[in-house]
Amino acid sequence: MTRVIAIDGPAASGKSSASRGVASALGFLFVSSGHFYRALAWGVVRDSVSEEALPQWIGNRRLDIVETTGPETAQRGVQLMLDGSDATPHLSDPEVAAKVSLLAVFPEVRDLINGHLRALAASHDLVMEGRDIGSVVFPETPYKFYLDASPEERARRRAGEGAVDSVAERDRIDSSRATAPLTIPKGATVIDTTHLNLSEVIHAVLEHLRKLGNFTTIAK
Ligand code: C5P
Repeated sequence: MTRVIAIDGPAASGKSSASRGVASALGFLFVSSGHFYRALAWGVVRDSVSEEALPQWIGNRRLDIVETTGPETAQRGVQLMLDGSDATPHLSDPEVAAKVSLLAVFPEVRDLINGHLRALAASHDLVMEGRDIGSVVFPETPYKFYLDASPEERARRRAGEGAVDSVAERDRIDSSRATAPLTIPKGATVIDTTHLNLSEVIHAVLEHLRKLGNFTTIAK
């Protein structure tokens, strides 16, 4: 039985760095589901796909997942190849950030991505972050977290990364869409990260996991 730690929350709530840290501490595979949406958004920008052409375009895509390790052996992640090309350098492109939430409303897109995410869980212990991981993709996992931070703090963090990204607009679209909207999953532990630094957030998640079950950390 593999374990899935689901970490959801709005844009720039600290999910990604915290999830990486938790995955690294446990020796689990880190997966950003947002990267899957961004990889497809990059393809949509690249191929100038119209809304009408989207379902057919999606049906013809090949998305390959390559496992990677970071500088420390504990850092395990995935790299996404769209139609044979590495999507990694394009995931933070401003055009991709502007398109991704519009693309994520389509059930065809979500079905394709969810199939890949669930397949990963069949063979790996995972820390997966996103918007609907605890609510829709793995509703049965007992390990669910929802990270939040004030809108001001989230805008500040994203600006600090030098990224051109309309966080508020993405949140609005992500929270109001009909399919798998951003929501606090049932049973999730909510952590407000506004006044916490990264190690405090990672510590809070690990502490909670220790109380819930048999988790052993392999690295600090
Ligand atoms: O997490 P990240 O900011 O990279 O996600 C980019 C976008 O992908 C989100 O704003 C959202 O529109 C979409 N997404 C989603 N469901 C997920 C993860 C991401 O709809 N589980």
